Amino acid sequence: MRLDDVEQITLIDRLSFSMPWPESAFRYELTSNPGSLLWVAEADLAEGPRVIGSIVVWMILDEAHIATIAVHPDYRRRGVSKQLLAVALRQAIQQGATLATLEVRAGNLAAQALYRRFRFEIVGRRSRYYRDNNEDAIIMTVRLNQPAAPGQSYLEWLESGGYANASQDSSGSAIVLKGGAS
Ligand SMILES: CC(C)(COP(=O)(O)OP(=O)(O)OC[C@H]1O[C@@H](n2cnc3c(N)ncnc32)[C@H](O)[C@@H]1OP(=O)(O)O)[C@@H](O)C(=O)NCCC(=O)NCCS
Repeated sequence: MRLDDVEQITLIDRLSFSMPWPESAFRYELTSNPGSLLWVAEADLAEGPRVIGSIVVWMILDEAHIATIAVHPDYRRRGVSKQLLAVALRQAIQQGATLATLEVRAGNLAAQALYRRFRFEIVGRRSRYYRDNNEDAIIMTVRLNQPAAPGQSYLEWLESGGYANASQDSSGSAIVLKGGAS
């Protein structure tokens, strides 16, 4: 993620959330939060690259907290968020994360399905957490230092694409991931 990308990321956020992050929040993560991992997905279009999704992960000691992830509505269900989550979790593990956590709206079944693909499980609930409609937050976690499949560490499972759906992913235009630590 680069400062040039922030305008498009903010637009995608507005299309994706009832309480989107302001542009200044992405700028802060990019320029001033050393514990932030930020990635964008770009579609490689004939007219040039276009930012179509992003993820921000906060590294807090050995915990990777998924702060936000969103994909442009025109590019959903093509495996973009799976690629974003995979690259960010891989980097988090390489930086010492042993646990990943997140909060998700109780009614956001699409996102919960995404996280379940990555072996996240529900571990708690925060009542009336979201201020706009008093919706509950579901807390989900996955241990990154335990096997994800028999004889396979979580990192090995990630790198083997264990979360993917071979019949659907990578359809359409090529997706390029760009980012890393802030
Ligand atoms: C949630 C979101 C990031 C998913 O992005 P995406 O690129 O469309 O997701 P993918 O194509 O990578 O799909 C990943 C998995 O998520 C699940 N999923 C995604 N969209 C879904 C939907 N509409 N209904 C059910 N499951 C869905 C599926 O399990 C899917 O895997 P599969 O296609 O192999 O079955 C996207 O819908 C979005 O930006 N939503 C608004 C923002 C948001 O809710 N962010 C999460 C906040 S906690």
